[in-house]
Amino acid sequence: MQLLKDRIRKDGIVREGGVLKVDSFLNHQMDIELFEEIGKEFRRRFEGEEINKILTIEASGIGIACIVAQYFHVPVVFVKKTKTKNIAGDVYTSRVESYTHGRVYDIIVSKDFLGPEDKVLLIDDFLANGCALLGLIDIVKKSGATLEGAGIVIEKGFQTGGKQIRDMGIRLESLAIVESMDEESGEIVFRDDKV
Ligand code: G4P
Repeated sequence: MQLLKDRIRKDGIVREGGVLKVDSFLNHQMDIELFEEIGKEFRRRFEGEEINKILTIEASGIGIACIVAQYFHVPVVFVKKTKTKNIAGDVYTSRVESYTHGRVYDIIVSKDFLGPEDKVLLIDDFLANGCALLGLIDIVKKSGATLEGAGIVIEKGFQTGGKQIRDMGIRLESLAIVESMDEESGEIVFRDDKV
């Protein structure tokens, strides 16, 4: 998505350790007009798919998922992160081991809001090693819902998540795939810039 790639080049900041800061428009301050274009693009890419629910994970996924959902006319359910071991109530759970943050947490979603009748599109802001997305996929599986695909705003193509998820046969649409980033110059190369 050219508009997004241009914005990443203009306002993204490359930090050490392969971290891309996009706080000014994506995951701290949020540019809602850009989010609307992102919503339209996901709608276009998943045209014809029978999606009745969008599933995301707190925190940064929620804002994007809400705007995207306006183009699908479906509700958003967000999976909650919890440190509590004793999870009460009727919930699906999974365990996420974040490689980026070096921490483990449980994720939960109520059985009231996800079940076998659902056709789910996963939405998230970033895909790095994919631990968060794999957790969401596990939750969908446990619920008996159908996974229609996953939409990611920025995929870090030099990390393993994207390949792992595509290799599972899951339809993964990333609007911008960063192939490489240079800390010194701030240069960002996207996957389709290379072909
Ligand atoms: P992981 O397996 O390496 O942990 O990667 P995963 O794809 O699950 O992403 C883990 C978290 O790291 C996500 O947020 C994701 O948004 C964030 N992240 C990964 N790489 C980058 C990056 O280069 N830039 C930015 N800005 N974020 C990145 P999270 O910890 O789940 O938290 P939240 O921000 O959604 O609350």
